[in-house]
Amino acid sequence: MDSAALRKKFLDFFAARGHAAVPSSSLIPDDPSVLLTTAGMQQFKKYYTNPEMADRDFGSRNTVSIQKSFRTSDIDEVGDGRHLTFFEMMGNFSFGGYFKKEAITYAFDFLTKEMGLAISYVTIFQGKEGISVPKDEESARIWRSLGITDIREEGMDDVFWGPTGASGPCGPTTEIYCKNSAGEDIEVWNIVFNEFFCSGSREELLAGNATLEPLATKGIDTGMGLERLAMCVQGKNDIFETDLYAPLMDLVPSDFTDTQKRVIADHARAAVFLLADGVRPSNKDREYVLRRLLRRAIVMHDVRPLIERTIEQYGPTYPELVREKDSIVSAYSDEREKFMKTLRHGLKEMERMPSGDAKAAFHLYESFGLPYEVIKDYDGGKRAIHLTREQFDEEFKKHQEVSRAGSSAKFGGHGLYMKTGEVTIRDESEVEKVTRLHTATHLLHAGLRAVLGPEVRQDGSDITVERTRFDFRFPRKVTPEEIKKVEDWVNDAIRHDYQVKWEEMPCEEGIQKGALGFFREKYPPRVKIYTMHDPASGEIVSCEFCGGPHVQHTAEVGKFKIVKEEASSAGVRRIRAVVE
Ligand code: ALA
Repeated sequence: MDSAALRKKFLDFFAARGHAAVPSSSLIPDDPSVLLTTAGMQQFKKYYTNPEMADRDFGSRNTVSIQKSFRTSDIDEVGDGRHLTFFEMMGNFSFGGYFKKEAITYAFDFLTKEMGLAISYVTIFQGKEGISVPKDEESARIWRSLGITDIREEGMDDVFWGPTGASGPCGPTTEIYCKNSAGEDIEVWNIVFNEFFCSGSREELLAGNATLEPLATKGIDTGMGLERLAMCVQGKNDIFETDLYAPLMDLVPSDFTDTQKRVIADHARAAVFLLADGVRPSNKDREYVLRRLLRRAIVMHDVRPLIERTIEQYGPTYPELVREKDSIVSAYSDEREKFMKTLRHGLKEMERMPSGDAKAAFHLYESFGLPYEVIKDYDGGKRAIHLTREQFDEEFKKHQEVSRAGSSAKFGGHGLYMKTGEVTIRDESEVEKVTRLHTATHLLHAGLRAVLGPEVRQDGSDITVERTRFDFRFPRKVTPEEIKKVEDWVNDAIRHDYQVKWEEMPCEEGIQKGALGFFREKYPPRVKIYTMHDPASGEIVSCEFCGGPHVQHTAEVGKFKIVKEEASSAGVRRIRAVVE
């Protein structure tokens, strides 16, 4: 059965069981808290809480789709035989139409009767006390009634889906495993029982900072990767041998390693779909994801033939590829030209570097923006032959520690990890956001002291691209009025657009100057002191030990907002704040 037949079988199977077939939505989701569409349920999210809308929009509470999906979280896994960035996710959905029994039975029938596959085993949710979700006995019973006896219990990390984005429906899942031709068990289908509405993100739920409310109408959300299904049905060892990929793999020179071939094929195919949905390579967010894919492929090979072949092969199923053909190809060529220019400088440097040395590799990364993969794969992988990801990350960590400790080492401006919804990517441009938050944190510290008094003492801080978290010693809850005052104080300092200056000096001198520090950390002999002062009154607004980075003028910080104040431990308060 080729992939076209699989797609048709899937849609027909569910259409025959009362599901409305809905076309894939774009890879650019409506939900601004999510970078890219990662699952079929995303376009249906609102129907789980408003099932009547499904009657109106689809004439049914049950739908089926094959969704273009992209998972940045799997970028580094690509190269083995079963992970992809872009994939087609087949799914059936129900917004109160049916629940566990039907969902499990449909999946069982489709796989065993329509596809002729044997199920190796299934998983069910083992339950979790902290969030009051019990073990999924009901699914286990249904599976047993279908003759499945190998039922494995797993926890939150594996069999609890969602929520996607900042809040939303979520619930326990049951996964189905089948064998590929090498006899390995592959997860092919994930069936989610949307029973709850989560008030926060997944991270917040796991940290105990979000609550679950039972949904008035229980829902079904399922996902099965077409590529994995094809691997099992077509009797292949890995997804790159299926008819979805074989023609692309044939276009990669045969002396490349399997891993390189797979990365090239995956990235070229994914880039085509992103380009077709209007993403263009750049330095931020999904644009950066695309740039990373393209550059990683381009450094190994000119993938234009794969780009064209993807359009040809997938055009009949996804007409947008044909419609956008010219713009896809020209965006690819532009990006390649730009990258080749940058590469020339970086690679010239690389020629002079000892191969495989993590320090040298990090230098290339820092100075020329050559990502680890590029350095590793350059010249067919012959140069950095001994370089490992661990060594490189180690170097990266050292570098971060140096900057944090406040030495004169400059913040490289690279390699932050950005979390957006469920994806984590590296994005250089997010440095700007963190920089603003760094300065905002100093102003917050100063504002707290101005409003609550000089007994406020920093007890820790943590900055991500989304927020700053500031802990300080203070004996009681900060009142809402005080919070408002602190916020106003900080925004006032931002409006004054004070200059942010820094100088390097011996640690002792900084202490004498009265610079605020977080003295649980050990500072190096020479430190950087950041100061903001009000030229009108001559007063020091803020003066702190810090490695940076900071903005040059406070107005760059933007609007400051405190989003939460709570106890962190006895006598220590914790504030979370954002900049807009
Ligand atoms: N939304 C579920 C998944 O992507 C089905 O695994």
